[in-house]
Amino acid sequence: MTLLPATPLAELAAAAAGGLRDAFGSDATLTAAAPGRVNLIGEHIDYCDGFVMPFALDRAVVIAATTNGRGEARIGSTAGEVAVIPLAEPVEPGQPKWANYVRGVIRGFQDRGLAVPGFDAWVVSSVPMGAGLSSSAALECATATLLEGLTGSSLATREKALLCQRAEHVFAGVPCGIMDQFASAFGEADRLVLIDCRSGEPTLVPFTDPGLTVIVANTNVHHELTDGGYAARRKNTEDGLAILGKSSWRDVTMADVEAAWERLGDPVNRRSRHVVAEIARTVAAARALEAGDMAALGPLMTASHESLRDDFEVSCPELDTMVEIAGRIGGDGGVIGARMTGGGFGGSTVTLCDSGRAEAIAARLHADYLAATGIRPEIFASRPAAGARLIAGPGLQPGQGAG
Ligand code: GLA
Repeated sequence: MTLLPATPLAELAAAAAGGLRDAFGSDATLTAAAPGRVNLIGEHIDYCDGFVMPFALDRAVVIAATTNGRGEARIGSTAGEVAVIPLAEPVEPGQPKWANYVRGVIRGFQDRGLAVPGFDAWVVSSVPMGAGLSSSAALECATATLLEGLTGSSLATREKALLCQRAEHVFAGVPCGIMDQFASAFGEADRLVLIDCRSGEPTLVPFTDPGLTVIVANTNVHHELTDGGYAARRKNTEDGLAILGKSSWRDVTMADVEAAWERLGDPVNRRSRHVVAEIARTVAAARALEAGDMAALGPLMTASHESLRDDFEVSCPELDTMVEIAGRIGGDGGVIGARMTGGGFGGSTVTLCDSGRAEAIAARLHADYLAATGIRPEIFASRPAAGARLIAGPGLQPGQGAG
């Protein structure tokens, strides 16, 4: 079987509780979970007032914790060394770096006047890291959910997502849009999270057809959004909008971009073309999905990938190879469409396909990609899953939310 199964949440929770016990000798009293995401279409336009259509994966970050009666948080993970975070003062970025997502979220609570008590925590994750699947947003949203439990205060979902986004901006230095944190916070089983990034409103769109499967193929080419490529793309779009003299990309037409092509200059003109076209494609894809028009959806995904590759320049040879293999399998082999997903520069592709062919498609993606690149990919299928929530703690029945 090529499609890797998801580790059940209860198993992740047990591993997190075990880690907490081994590291700090205490039993978990609260456990929070938050998923990664995959984006079907609408890439690099969440920070351009666009539309995006991600869903929460059945892969998640799980944190088991308990208060420790100290003035500090101690947080461990199999992924790095234990972080000790003093809580008496406003928290600042520090070492180890992986814990800056946690620090940034704690700071968001402090800034809201919510006193965070000392706690010990252990983090486990089934979201592949650096794979364009929002492992960092999952860590932020799981931390925020845990802190809601620890402080006894519950934030509105939107505020929680924005708090997490700010943690990413200020503590990780990535000027991300709102897609990842919204998908992780608002996600629901069997629902896509269609986000209008101008109004900041998510709409939950049913995605229940058992005949459709979403395959995620991690190229295992590591992606790092902190190294400047992401920020540079965002800056290109800000420059483009300023040159066009508009206040929102939603008010820009393709004719506007074409008329200003020379003034925009390269690469800002191509970046601008991507933004305007991708917004239109995402709107069209949402309509096609609603109408069950798969014939329309495939070409939109293909065009999205080509635009990200050629105009936005955030793809890489391995992502292109994976998408090309899906293209060769084609409609006859059950592929509806394929494209890179997430920030790019490595990471994963998303392939929409007929469920009956999913296993065969995954096997072919695996074999042909390995043959072409020498790299073993990691391939799984996911249905839309629940967003961030407490899965164990006071007031929750054993197993509640952990399904
Ligand atoms: C990263 C960012 C998101 C979004 C995507 C590209 O995942 O965190 O805000 O911009 O890249 O669509």
